[in-house]
Amino acid sequence: MEEKRERLKQFFLEIKECRKCGLHSTRNKFVFGSGNAEADIMFVGEAPGKNEDLQGLPFVGRAGSILDTLLASIDMTRNDIFIANVLKCRPPGNRDPQAEEVSICKDYLFSQIRIIDPRMICTLGKHSTQLILDTKQGITGLRGKVFTRDGRLVIPINHPAAVLYTPSRMETLRQDFSRIKKLADCGYVIDPGTGEKPAPKEVPDSEDVSEQLGLF
Ligand code: URA
Repeated sequence: MEEKRERLKQFFLEIKECRKCGLHSTRNKFVFGSGNAEADIMFVGEAPGKNEDLQGLPFVGRAGSILDTLLASIDMTRNDIFIANVLKCRPPGNRDPQAEEVSICKDYLFSQIRIIDPRMICTLGKHSTQLILDTKQGITGLRGKVFTRDGRLVIPINHPAAVLYTPSRMETLRQDFSRIKKLADCGYVIDPGTGEKPAPKEVPDSEDVSEQLGLF
C-alpha cells in the first residue's frame, strides 16, 4: 500500500532541484503534484500559476477552487485523485508552455503516470490533452470523447480556468465530471452493454471509444 507513495516520494526528491530548462531560474517552487498515490484517476493540468509557484502545490488558485467544486459535485475530493501538470515550473506571466519545455519536462509526468498507474487520465485543456494523446488537435474537437492509451482511459476536458473567462463552460465541465463518475462507478470498463467486458488495460489503444462505452 505504501509502495507507490514511497516511490513517488523518492522520485520527487530526485527531481525537485531540476535545472534542465530555463524555468528553474524564475520559479519559486517546483510543483511536483499532489494527491493519492493509489488513485485510479489522475488529472493533468498545464503548468503551475502564481499561487502554485508560491505554495509548491498544484491547483491552489482560482482554477483549483473550480476543480474542487467539480470534484465535490461527483462526491470526490483530492484524496481520491492525483493531480499533476505537464510542466513542473511556472512559465513567467503564465505564458503558454513552449514546445522545448514540454519536451524536457514530459518524462517526469510519464514517470508519475507509470508509478501511480491510474485507470483513467483526465486531461485538463489543450496542452495536457495534446501531450497525452500525442496529437496536434485542439481540445474543442476532442472533448466529449473517450480514448484509450496504454490501457488507460483518457478523457479530455476543458481546463477549469476556462470558466473564469466563459462562465457557461461550467455546465460542460459538470457534464464531463458526471461522465467521469459513471466510468469510475462501473469500474472503468468499456462495454457496459454486455456486462462482461475486458478491463481497459486489455483494450488496444484507440482513437475514440465513446461509442463502445455506450454510456453517453
Ligand atoms: N493551472 C494548471 O494547469 N495547473 C495548476 O497547477 C494551476 C493552474
